[in-house]
Amino acid sequence: MSLKGKKIAVGLTGGIACYKVPYLVRALRKAEAEVVVIMTEAATKFITPLTLETVSDNPVAIEMFPDGEYVSTRHIDLAESPDLHVIAPATANLLGKVANGICDDLLTTVICAAAGPVMIAPAMNVHMWANPITQANFERLKELGYLFVDPGEGEMACDDYGVGRMAEPDVIFDAITAFFSRKPKKKVLTGKRFLVTAGATHEPIDPVRFITNRSSGRMGYALAEAAVALGAETTLISGPVSLKPPPGVKLIAVESTAEMARAVKREFKTSDCLIMAAAPADYAPVSRAGQKIKKSSDALKLDLSPTVDILREVGKLKRDDQRVIGFALETENGLANARRKLKEKNLDMIVLNSPGEQTGFDHDTNAVTVLMPGKRPVYIALATKKVISGKLLDYVARLL
Ligand code: CTP
Repeated sequence: MSLKGKKIAVGLTGGIACYKVPYLVRALRKAEAEVVVIMTEAATKFITPLTLETVSDNPVAIEMFPDGEYVSTRHIDLAESPDLHVIAPATANLLGKVANGICDDLLTTVICAAAGPVMIAPAMNVHMWANPITQANFERLKELGYLFVDPGEGEMACDDYGVGRMAEPDVIFDAITAFFSRKPKKKVLTGKRFLVTAGATHEPIDPVRFITNRSSGRMGYALAEAAVALGAETTLISGPVSLKPPPGVKLIAVESTAEMARAVKREFKTSDCLIMAAAPADYAPVSRAGQKIKKSSDALKLDLSPTVDILREVGKLKRDDQRVIGFALETENGLANARRKLKEKNLDMIVLNSPGEQTGFDHDTNAVTVLMPGKRPVYIALATKKVISGKLLDYVARLL
């Protein structure tokens, strides 16, 4: 893809991954982008400004107030003129400063004043990346709309192994070209009412204990967000999760499967489509102890009875103008089980996923297979739950 006419500011902070950045700058130049480079003082310890000046064909900016140069409002020009700012590598320090509005050098000042989008490629030691403070800064920046090229997993310069190394220059280059070739999504679901369920339910045993399923709710929340982005009026019925509802959705918080069933049946009547991404508990204790059950050395037996299968009930109520989408989480015989559920629950589509190292619950990523009656299964390869949701919603929109 040609990047002719695009001006890209590449910011480097002090990390060993600096040595890879000339490859990125060269790729951008080959694609005919104009590139201006801004370096922190620490970055200049890892790679010389002369190298970056040579590959970018432009002077490199480092200091806020360089001696003998006319600076005036240079930081504002550097902030406003690029079509995209890319920070690669971005240290934990850089994330912390940007997330907290600190402007104590040229790069952070430019980023604070940036008029357009900022894409960040973090690079740091595995423990620095895993540090809850770094993660909180990362989450905050994502929430604020900063774009990320997530760090990869592998060996580090310090001999540690794990997540934290900068994405390779070609991956960052692809993210940049994808950014420039993105098309605004058409609001194809305008006028449609969507009902999405998410998360696990809790079935109390006593006042302090409950039975539940493993489910973070991320898939359902991402689907609700994708439905809103396509213009649907969206209601999200959620079990207890630690996620913020996406802007624009109506949230109905529930706790047990019975409560979820009541809410779904009520809201379904006026919905065009139900996406049942929740993981409701299949069994609930027959009775709930009024007080905390005291432990003893004897085995504890719990009597459980099956809860209502919400999807099956809704499948029976479904009108011709309504669509019902289910999920199937399978650890074995995935396709056969999903096909059976598709038919038995009278669904228009079922999304099969299997728990794995990067899929299923507790992950930001997933890989799924979409099954529809009379159609061949479609596999959607590993991607973030946000990307998977967008693709799933494209299929759902066609069903409507
Ligand atoms: N589901 C539901 N009500 C339940 C349990 C599940 O509506 N009490 C829905 C889920 O939201 C999902 C679909 O049914 O969309 C399939 O859920 P899954 O747990 O894969 O299968 P089950 O039908 O519960 O069957 P099994 O646990 O035997 O695999």
